Amino acid sequence: MHPCRVCTMPTTIFADYGRMPLANGFLLPEQVADERFYRLQMSFCPSCGMIQVVDLPDPAEMFHDHYAYFAQTSQGMITHFRGFAADVIRRLGLGPHSFVVEPGSNDGIMLRNFAAAGIRHLGVDPAANVAAAASQIGVRTRCAFFGEDTARAIRAEEGPADAIVAANVIAHIPDINSVGRGIRALLKDDGVFVFEAPYAGDVIQNVAYDQFYDEHIFLFSCHSVQAAFARHGLELFDAEHQPTHGGSMRYWLAPAGARPATEAVGHWLGQEEAIGLGRAATYQHFFARCQENRSALRAILEAAKAEGKRVVGYGATAKSTTVANFCAITPDLVEFICDVTPTKQDKLTPGMHIPVRPYSAFSDHYPDYAVLFAWSHAEEIFAKEEAFRSQGGRWITFVPRVEVV
Ligand code: TMP
Ligand code: ZN
Repeated sequence: MHPCRVCTMPTTIFADYGRMPLANGFLLPEQVADERFYRLQMSFCPSCGMIQVVDLPDPAEMFHDHYAYFAQTSQGMITHFRGFAADVIRRLGLGPHSFVVEPGSNDGIMLRNFAAAGIRHLGVDPAANVAAAASQIGVRTRCAFFGEDTARAIRAEEGPADAIVAANVIAHIPDINSVGRGIRALLKDDGVFVFEAPYAGDVIQNVAYDQFYDEHIFLFSCHSVQAAFARHGLELFDAEHQPTHGGSMRYWLAPAGARPATEAVGHWLGQEEAIGLGRAATYQHFFARCQENRSALRAILEAAKAEGKRVVGYGATAKSTTVANFCAITPDLVEFICDVTPTKQDKLTPGMHIPVRPYSAFSDHYPDYAVLFAWSHAEEIFAKEEAFRSQGGRWITFVPRVEVV
């Protein structure tokens, strides 16, 4: 029996991706012997609708003082967060008198916009290296895990928050009930909690199973967010779909009864019903499609190898750890993965140990094929890599389907 992390009712396991390393566990050759693995299985809670990882490695192994992910490596994300912040400031009428808190503030990609608008703010992030990068650009940051204790401490020291904003982090915290209690305790009675996360509707429809990894403990829908936060006196009053990370949802919540729900909430709940997000059969069908996707991707890579083609990967994303390990993509199939993040370069990818090289390894000597592991940035990447295709290079993509383009 695997109890739901939200409501403690029994969940149903629908997918087993096998042995997995930590998604951001890029490592040096001498660290290979100590590499840690867990078994990545996903389950669905028929009671509250939450999609979740069954067993987890220790969070202290995932978020630490040499965390590999820096959000500001993507121009698209910088622009996205500028817009997100402007929207929150405008919609909530925030000004110099306001106080904004961001759990999981990473390198300050979002809060820098509140700082620039002269708004009192505080970021919270457990990864000391990214928190230090944020402090350097003038974003006030506390190095801590976010939960009820941290939230209460912030309220006691700095007062209640007008807005709590978050992106791609609420799903990373295993004790979501502590997060819910903490948010409610920190928020003013007329405050708003707004967060973004990859959206279950997109993941299920596009077979984007690489959204599943150790840091993505939950995959949210409007239905499951509504249920999870209602337990803590917070009501979903708006939902806005976003193109980021291959399809995300921006959830707006407020203390119960404080704000009327927009039509969007009803719309998305209806959509979720229509695509079967409430039914276990939907998830079983989804996993069958994951297995088909794996066979198709392996077939392309094996064929390229048999023809003696050069294949490299583009973007050593955390998501690629799931794909590479589930599909057993070894360095004989993908020579290296290029990535602009200095902390990942010259390391090996988790589990499959594909070398990570700087961007120049790709651009100095184009391969025949590049596997687009950073598929959620496809538009940005295709636009700037036109020369690769015009010189005969081809992309191998696997979301929403496996194909060579
Ligand atoms: P993400 O999918 O979690 O946003 O991670 C994107 C990764 O891809 C990150 O390691 C940076 C890398 N990347 C590049 O190397 N080049 C690019 O053009 C983009 C957009 C991302
Ligand atoms: Zn549940």
